[in-house]
Amino acid sequence: MKPVGPIPSGFETIDGELAIGGRTASALVAKAGRTPLFVYSRALIDARVAQLRAALPQRVGLNYAVKANPHPLVIAHMASQVDGFDIASSGELALCVAAGIDPRRISFAGPGKRDEELEAAIAAGVTLNCESEGEGARALAISQRIGVRPRIAIRVNPSFVMTGSGMKMGGGAKPFGVDAERVPDLARKLIAEGAEWRGLHIFTGSQTLSADAIIEGQANVLALAAQLTKAIGHECPKLNMGGGLGTPYFPGDTPVDLPRVGAALAEQVAQLPAALADTELCMEMGRYLVGEAGVYLTRIIDRKVSHGVTYLVTDGGLHHQLAASGNFGTVVRRNYPSAIATRYGEEATEEVNIVGCLCTPLDRLADNAMMPRADVGDLVAVFCAGAYGASASPSAFLGHGPAAELLV
Ligand SMILES: Cc1ncc(COP(=O)(O)O)c(C=O)c1O
Repeated sequence: MKPVGPIPSGFETIDGELAIGGRTASALVAKAGRTPLFVYSRALIDARVAQLRAALPQRVGLNYAVKANPHPLVIAHMASQVDGFDIASSGELALCVAAGIDPRRISFAGPGKRDEELEAAIAAGVTLNCESEGEGARALAISQRIGVRPRIAIRVNPSFVMTGSGMKMGGGAKPFGVDAERVPDLARKLIAEGAEWRGLHIFTGSQTLSADAIIEGQANVLALAAQLTKAIGHECPKLNMGGGLGTPYFPGDTPVDLPRVGAALAEQVAQLPAALADTELCMEMGRYLVGEAGVYLTRIIDRKVSHGVTYLVTDGGLHHQLAASGNFGTVVRRNYPSAIATRYGEEATEEVNIVGCLCTPLDRLADNAMMPRADVGDLVAVFCAGAYGASASPSAFLGHGPAAELLV
């Protein structure tokens, strides 16, 4: 038997079924008209934002990293919840603009911005988080050609890394950002050549559950930003401090101690170095805002036994939920939080393997998991599906097509 990850709080049981936003899994599938289905809950997103607002100092704004879930309705909903948006492509820019978001609330990071992307962002008034000297030069040339002053911040590749993060985005050689020691020269050059200086972006890691690591990372980021600002010799209008707060996906994972992170940041903000006295601060997060607010629902289409092992074969799988299958950034496969949605709360009486419909042994949703007895027609729920699910999975693989998505 292998345990499944911790089911996030905020879900209910109605008529013996998992319910989201007051509606049962079956009712949600009926509304969408089909499975597999991602359901995202506005109420759970809002509750998470409210927790962050309550814990973090008021001075620290919240940016939504669109890459976590670029569904148009999610982006539009986030417009009322967060202060800014971080995008990684002109495709994400188009989604934000279509959702009515003011481009001046948007910043654009990413190591390989094409000229067309730079032009679209500069023309719209988006802040570029400049990733290299070469990108800075291209941005200046494009802005001259189109006659629009570029808004530019520099993404810094710091020499430190956020310890304990699942994905390290700084420290040593990296394709992201400009090595810290080269930032002052580049900043002065961009400013001298007419760019509107927007400040610094220091994103050091992602998927961190340790409050200590986050607190230490934030202290390092503030110290580095102050040091760079002094060396640049111009005020830092805005500092994007990154985020990194993680999601407990696996057995034994515990949530980030948010009140502790918030209290430590409040202390640091109360004693900000003089160089950052007037700097606007923000944190940038994707999965922490939306990840636990999403559930993936897939229907059991076959129940079979092979050499004594029971398989529940679903109509979903890794083509929608690559991360839950264990093939997106994990070394050892562990079970995501999952349940039989139509028998929610029933006693777990049998050990099963829940698999997807793809003809590959990689397509696993839960291995050797204890579940209530389930049959063809029952719905399986995979939790923590609100971030890096639909958009971070190979939905074209084997031709089953994308899942439906609902925001409730
Ligand atoms: C620059 C940048 N911003 C934001 C994110 C979002 O991270 P998360 O969804 O873990 O908050 C990432 C993730 O790698 C990133 O590289």
